[in-house]
Amino acid sequence: MIIDKVHLRAPGNWMNDPNGFIYYRGEYHLFYQYFPYGPVWGTTHWAHAVSKDLIHWKHLGIALFPSKDYDRNGVFSGSAVEVDGRLYLYYSAVKYLEADPENIHIPLDNRFETSQAMIVSEDGFTFDNWKDKKKILPVCTREEEADAVHTRDPKVWKDCDGYYMILGSTVKSEQGRVLFYKSKDGVQWEYASQYRHPACGNILECPDLFQVGDQWVFTGSPMGVIRDGKNYAEQAVCSLAEFQKDTCALKFQGEPEYMDWGLDLYASQTNLDREGNRVMIAWIRMPKPVEEPGKTPWRGMMCLPRVIEVKEGQICFLPHPEADRYFSKKLKEQEMPDFSRAFRVKAVLKEQETLDIGGYKITLENGCVKGDRSQVFPQGKEHRLTAKTPAVKGDCHLDIFVDKDLIEIFVNQGKYVLSHAVYGLQPYIKGNVEDIFTGTDKD
Ligand code: FRU
Repeated sequence: MIIDKVHLRAPGNWMNDPNGFIYYRGEYHLFYQYFPYGPVWGTTHWAHAVSKDLIHWKHLGIALFPSKDYDRNGVFSGSAVEVDGRLYLYYSAVKYLEADPENIHIPLDNRFETSQAMIVSEDGFTFDNWKDKKKILPVCTREEEADAVHTRDPKVWKDCDGYYMILGSTVKSEQGRVLFYKSKDGVQWEYASQYRHPACGNILECPDLFQVGDQWVFTGSPMGVIRDGKNYAEQAVCSLAEFQKDTCALKFQGEPEYMDWGLDLYASQTNLDREGNRVMIAWIRMPKPVEEPGKTPWRGMMCLPRVIEVKEGQICFLPHPEADRYFSKKLKEQEMPDFSRAFRVKAVLKEQETLDIGGYKITLENGCVKGDRSQVFPQGKEHRLTAKTPAVKGDCHLDIFVDKDLIEIFVNQGKYVLSHAVYGLQPYIKGNVEDIFTGTDKD
């Protein structure tokens, strides 16, 4: 049995988006997009992991796989709700109209269609892919309602008056749009409304909408938002929003911002944790597989679960309290952490000062926190090697989570977060640190 600590990683081969994230019957369940045959994207399955504390994850293998004509080429992203003690999982079902003859796991020229489907599980551990799946929204042929190809990633939530579904879509692959459907029972769905905004890019993926206190917050992953010629023009964004429950009318308040300024984080999903906090988890993209002795090469991981709060009109992302509990062993002054495990560094950075963690450099430049991974990332014009946050005012407190393959920097209590995938960190730290904490595990 594979146990991951702190960050859930692909157990070999390929991982992308988190799916069906839910606290259910005393445990966190997290599914994710998984391709079992190599460290590349292809015919997606939902693999499954569970955790009691969002820190230690037990991999349980594949839960959902193609079994119906309508999902024969992929069980795409989706979400979970608990209904009368059972787990309802919603997903997008993909069928290729033409596959690439040289790689049947990808479509030729985007020739595919998408419907929305669900599967019901009695206990969150057994999934009958033959008996318990159901198509709930057929491929849409009315372009004014939805796109037949790119309409996906149902995020469903329950409210007192029924169930709501938000979907990502597009108008002719040119303008991203958000769609809403409503249901009384979570099974029969009716179209409710849609919303278009330039921040939805040309295709919107993995939208989510929820309340933090009384404030509605939208998160989503639009394609085509950055046009700098580098890889990954797709970037996760968030925005405060207005939402009318009766009509499903949505409106962003102000301009959407990046959820994470490192620009590796994508396809986020949120749900409530055991204590009722709104928690976000997302996929961290990796440009190449990690090869470790005795292990199948793997590619893709999840970020640390982050609590979403709205402070003075700004959406903040904080490390989950379980991470505080876990990283509570303080090292002695001058003591170096073990770089083969995750650890946490707290530091206050002054203007022009640099903290170098194993070759990854963090500098405060004109009030902006800059992360530079030039020494610990594959080189190439297509990769973004540096990134920075907007300027912060006053002191710059950093709370940094360092793992072998990922560095996550929380600035001033989650005002901004900058995360970078890294390869081959060296075991040293140069610069002023306040404290270093390691995990509480004995082994
Ligand atoms: C986002 C995404 C989703 C889709 C899934 C397919 O990364 O493209 O829109 O459902 O990945 O793996």
